[in-house]
Amino acid sequence: MNNEWLDTIVVARHDATSRIVVLDLVSPDGVELPEFAAGAHVDVLVDGAAGLVRQYSLCGPPHDRARYRLAVLAEAASRGGSLGMHRLRAGDRLRISRPRNRFGVSDRARRHLLVAGGIGVTPLLAMAHALEAGGAEYELHYCARSRAESAFLDELERNPRVRLHFDDGPDEQRLGIATDLGPPDPDTALYVCGPGGFMDFVISSALGAGWPAEAIHKERFAPVEDVAAHTAGGAFTVRLAKTGGEFEIKDGESVLDVLLAAGVDAPYSCQQGICGDCIVRVLAGEPDHRDDVLTDRERADGMFTTCSSRALSPILELDL
Ligand code: FES
Repeated sequence: MNNEWLDTIVVARHDATSRIVVLDLVSPDGVELPEFAAGAHVDVLVDGAAGLVRQYSLCGPPHDRARYRLAVLAEAASRGGSLGMHRLRAGDRLRISRPRNRFGVSDRARRHLLVAGGIGVTPLLAMAHALEAGGAEYELHYCARSRAESAFLDELERNPRVRLHFDDGPDEQRLGIATDLGPPDPDTALYVCGPGGFMDFVISSALGAGWPAEAIHKERFAPVEDVAAHTAGGAFTVRLAKTGGEFEIKDGESVLDVLLAAGVDAPYSCQQGICGDCIVRVLAGEPDHRDDVLTDRERADGMFTTCSSRALSPILELDL
């Protein structure tokens, strides 16, 4: 983990729904928090003693550096992260990383379509704030199970650019890829964030409707496959170009785990192939990409995630 932790204080906390808590964080000494761009997330040290780190998107307006806003869904299968966040109260201290961003607003698009499923609305809310402030053309589609399970409804319903879609509502208000997104348009960027099944549906529908892959920007909160699917496979050797070290990666091991166990100072965060913090360049060999964060262009440019990808060649040389 390559984090410089920032101390913050929970200055406000409220339950947006029975399962979503909204937390406002400020600096303990009242100074501005680091700048961030819409779509950014921070690592949160949920339980310092256990070393439990989770990633949450910043959902407040990016121009507001007095406070950061997070919204956290209580996961039914929580391993301590979301429940630890729900236990926080005003006045509690919380350590976070500086904001990082692999889900920014496209500066090439003239129009922006934001499609959120459930808690996936958080980075898209920050984008909506930024696009609104910049006078950009955008539309935010927020899909949720019901009104009762929707966060930020007051704010969203005041915005004429927002469309709400509830699973338990009439058919005519459900999200329709063709009707709500319209035909592919070279000047429009599509942003998708939400649970895996929701994202798979929106992305595959958009691709099927002719949207080019490079127009679709996505951020997942959970890996498409489980960790075993990332690490299963034949053994190969990783060679580090800068140090000359060589390490065998066996079936069931990740490149990252082997490097960290050997004391290599390799960057990482989520260890699930979704954040991009462990990306390094491949200098030789053939990667077997299993992440869900790199674009086709980045893969073609030799980028590689050490936490979740393997090699198809006997040796993989990395720029480390
Ligand atoms: S550590 Fe997040 S993608 Fe590898």
